[in-house]
Amino acid sequence: MVSYRDLDLVNSKKLFEKAIEGGYAIPAFNFNNLEQLQAIVSACVETKSPVILQVSKGARKYANQTLLKHLAKGAVEYAEELGYKIPIVLHLDHGDSVETCKSCIDMGFSSVMIDGSHHPYEKNVEMTAEVVEYAHKYDVTVEGELGVLSGIEDDVEAAKSVYTQPEEVEDFLNKTNVDSLAISIGTSHGANKFKPEQCTRDESGILIPPPLRFDILEEIEKKIPGFPIVLHGASSVPADLVETINQYGGDLKDAIGVPEDQLRKAAKSAVCKINIDSDGRLAVTAAVRKFLAENPAVFDPRKYLGPARDSLKDLYKRKINNVLASNEKALEHQ
Ligand code: G3H
Ligand code: 13P
Ligand code: ZN
Repeated sequence: MVSYRDLDLVNSKKLFEKAIEGGYAIPAFNFNNLEQLQAIVSACVETKSPVILQVSKGARKYANQTLLKHLAKGAVEYAEELGYKIPIVLHLDHGDSVETCKSCIDMGFSSVMIDGSHHPYEKNVEMTAEVVEYAHKYDVTVEGELGVLSGIEDDVEAAKSVYTQPEEVEDFLNKTNVDSLAISIGTSHGANKFKPEQCTRDESGILIPPPLRFDILEEIEKKIPGFPIVLHGASSVPADLVETINQYGGDLKDAIGVPEDQLRKAAKSAVCKINIDSDGRLAVTAAVRKFLAENPAVFDPRKYLGPARDSLKDLYKRKINNVLASNEKALEHQ
């Protein structure tokens, strides 16, 4: 049993309290490898932002969870070495069973998500309550989910979304004692969040997706005032990245994300954690495709992963400064 404190990590409790108070959101960036972690940590140190490092089931399978844990421990020291100690949470993203959550808690994660949203309500309550009971013994924070996001990721799949029902949230919180709640208000996982036929066009022909269901968010906030809300599926799918990918041999069709102004609006509310993964994948793929197309004789991975890492870092800094507004907020935790 390793406590997250031994790894110099923090849980998400204080981070969320301050984020709700201050009208900003903590970035939750997924990582699977060294370059992603370097980009996240350096972007957060340079902007003085707290950060949640997220590890999915796919990441654990790809990179090995022991290695990921040591990378996260290294991230704390790396941040200090870069010149600023930022609060770092190590979070299990979309934990699909009680056992997985417990095993992550035992190995030093400071926060876990138990995603029972695909199960019937009572089963979701049962799983979540069991994880919370275990996690709280070790001061680990737990995220639950109500409502189903559509979209497809390797291990997260739902054919169509079901919005969170505001009348369920109070009961869910009372029965589970969960620390934060992921909700479904129109976001979805992946790079194809909306169909073009769901969108309108502005005067320059750019597709504008339907707005998020802020009415549902407001109703939820009324039922559970000041309670930390989480937004999954919050990538914006920047058009320039999609264009670069397609220009250099890619074939992404109808890639549409959540506009950044919608996320900025959400971050000002009780939404205090915003999950971003796909945008990072797009940034890496665009940079690697471009570099390899322009430098066909290069075969040293550092030569193309380096620019990919730089592009990722720029993306994260822009998110922190312009969308989440978590820049300088590490200062609140010194
Ligand atoms: O929400 C899912 C994340 O984007 C992680 O996806 O399971 O493919 O690592 P993954
Ligand atoms: P995106 O696919 O929109 O980046 O969402 C990531 C996410 O929700 C991770 O849990
Ligand atoms: Zn998610």
